[in-house]
Amino acid sequence: MSDAQRLRVELGARSYDIVVGSHLLAQAGALMAGVVRHKRALVVTDANVARLHLDMLRRGLDAAGFAHEAIAVPPGEETKDFAHFQKLCEDILATGIERATPLIALGGGVVGDLAGFAAATLLRGLDYVQIPTTLLAQVDSSVGGKTAIDTRQGKNLVGAFHQPTLVIADIDTLATLPRRELLAGYAEVVKYGLIRDRAFYEWLEVKAGALLRGDADLRREAVLRSCAGKAAVVAADEREAGERALLNFGHTFGHALEAATGFGEALLHGEAVALGMRMAFDLSAKLRLCPAESANRVCRHFASIGLRIELDGMDADRLLELMRKDKKVKDGRISLILVRNIGQAFVSRDVAPELLREFLVQEIKTLAPRARAL
Ligand code: NAD
Ligand code: GLY
Repeated sequence: MSDAQRLRVELGARSYDIVVGSHLLAQAGALMAGVVRHKRALVVTDANVARLHLDMLRRGLDAAGFAHEAIAVPPGEETKDFAHFQKLCEDILATGIERATPLIALGGGVVGDLAGFAAATLLRGLDYVQIPTTLLAQVDSSVGGKTAIDTRQGKNLVGAFHQPTLVIADIDTLATLPRRELLAGYAEVVKYGLIRDRAFYEWLEVKAGALLRGDADLRREAVLRSCAGKAAVVAADEREAGERALLNFGHTFGHALEAATGFGEALLHGEAVALGMRMAFDLSAKLRLCPAESANRVCRHFASIGLRIELDGMDADRLLELMRKDKKVKDGRISLILVRNIGQAFVSRDVAPELLREFLVQEIKTLAPRARAL
């Protein structure tokens, strides 16, 4: 029996469904049948996900009569570069795809961004289906059509908006996800509560422990509520002219921390976002925009579930320099998402660089590991 639930991302002719539930890989072909134009599909995945979940997806495609092939790229952020993008495009073309052949992105945000960008450009645009297998990808990167690769100058600097035709979030795939990746993805779940849905945040404070331990109903509900939040924002502002910027909560600080730590294992994207959200709350409290107790409450929640809220060896000037290179800098002003309280985020370009520097100096001391600070 299926427990699947559907949400719609309303974007006119580019509208699509997000299906969330269990046992969905085995039903992927049936779910795709009414949506894609070809009974042939090309799966793009990474080597880890191929080992764990590709067979089940193949069975789901066979069951609905889809012909299919798969290409596995190396796992990791390094794969989101020009060299791997070129190889992937050439490997896909070598299979003899046609314009109506959909790509399937089976994996985390790396596979989704890379395969999505290939779909945006190959033959001037292919359909693609997102089948996200990390919590981060299920609640964020698979929805909304941002696709990109990284360059020497920074993350996600070459890309396109290209909406998928369907998103299938099978929460069973999360069972194989390492705990650290699960927690990093959880940061993006909390983000929706913190920016615009206080009731969701308060629900998460109560349910996070069981959800992270594996409760399937709670996971499904958290993915659904997150996707509903994202779908509403994307429907209102697909190209990030306004409200969509709120989804970058914690990201201006976070991207700078990621860049400073080398975009790798030292600090995962979701971990950097969690730290960035904590910093945004601390800065909002310092500017008396938000009660200090709310900032402390969020910090306590992160600590209680084991999300990293400490950071070592940072330099305020280096962070500020990296923040100045952010994609969202406008007329030289750094764009920050700040909060009036939990669930009340807004865009600010009003924080003066000197004040930001002073905050960073202080915050780096606050974020230093406790053992060292004593
Ligand atoms: P990821 O894709 O690198 O996956 C993390 C690791 O988990 C990888 O080693 C992967 O092989 C492995 N993995 C994936 N699914 C698994 C499973 N079910 N079981 C076991 N292992 C599994 O990382 P991510 O956190 O999913 O995505 C991060 C990327 O997403 C970044 O490149 C970021 O820029 C991008 N992103 C994009 C958007 C967007 O809107 N397009 C939004 C947020 C993040
Ligand atoms: N993850 C930010 C966005 O999709 O806009």
